[in-house]
Amino acid sequence: MRIRLADLQDALIIAEMSRNLIEVGLGWSWKEQRVLRSITDQDASVAVACEADRVIGFAIAKYRREEAHILLLAVDQASRRRGVGTMLVRWIEKTALIAGIGIVYLEARLNNVGARAFYDALGYREFRTEPGRYRGLESGVCLGKDLWLERQ
Ligand SMILES: CC(C)(COP(=O)(O)OP(=O)(O)OC[C@H]1O[C@@H](n2cnc3c(N)ncnc32)[C@H](O)[C@@H]1OP(=O)(O)O)[C@@H](O)C(=O)NCCC(=O)NCCS
Repeated sequence: MRIRLADLQDALIIAEMSRNLIEVGLGWSWKEQRVLRSITDQDASVAVACEADRVIGFAIAKYRREEAHILLLAVDQASRRRGVGTMLVRWIEKTALIAGIGIVYLEARLNNVGARAFYDALGYREFRTEPGRYRGLESGVCLGKDLWLERQ
């Protein structure tokens, strides 16, 4: 398994994974064109985890002046609990640090117990709940991590 930067040909599979694994029940907002915009955005990174040339996971992060936001992250069902998600998040964290960014934020659905446990295991702390965050249908939770603190 290896992590690499996504190329343009990965956009459709990433969009489909977002629809099937992340946006379930909320409508499909991360279609191919939107993923392509992230792949070509110089302030964003799209990473894919590949096994034998097959994409088994991906992460999209946006970098701002002092913080990075993980916008999307998913690993296909058959490849979970093998450390793939951890490797993708570590990759994002490393790129943030290289860019001089020490804070990483993200949001998750409040009822996404698995993802919340995953981020907790990686040192992300929940600091705010946002009622109705997802189209008024579901609440969200905001999480963050101070990467500098972890390095001390
Ligand atoms: C969340 C997700 C990315 C985790 O990917 P993964 O490759 O399975 O994660 P890892 O194997 O690196 O897990 C690392 C640790 O996180 C915790 N963890 C991961 N998934 C968990 C779950 N479903 N329940 C409880 N703890 C979990 C465990 O401590 C795990 O270590 P362990 O397997 O040794 O117990 C994956 O479940 C997923 O794609 N979910 C659907 C999409 C999603 O929710 N994305 C995040 C919000 S955008």
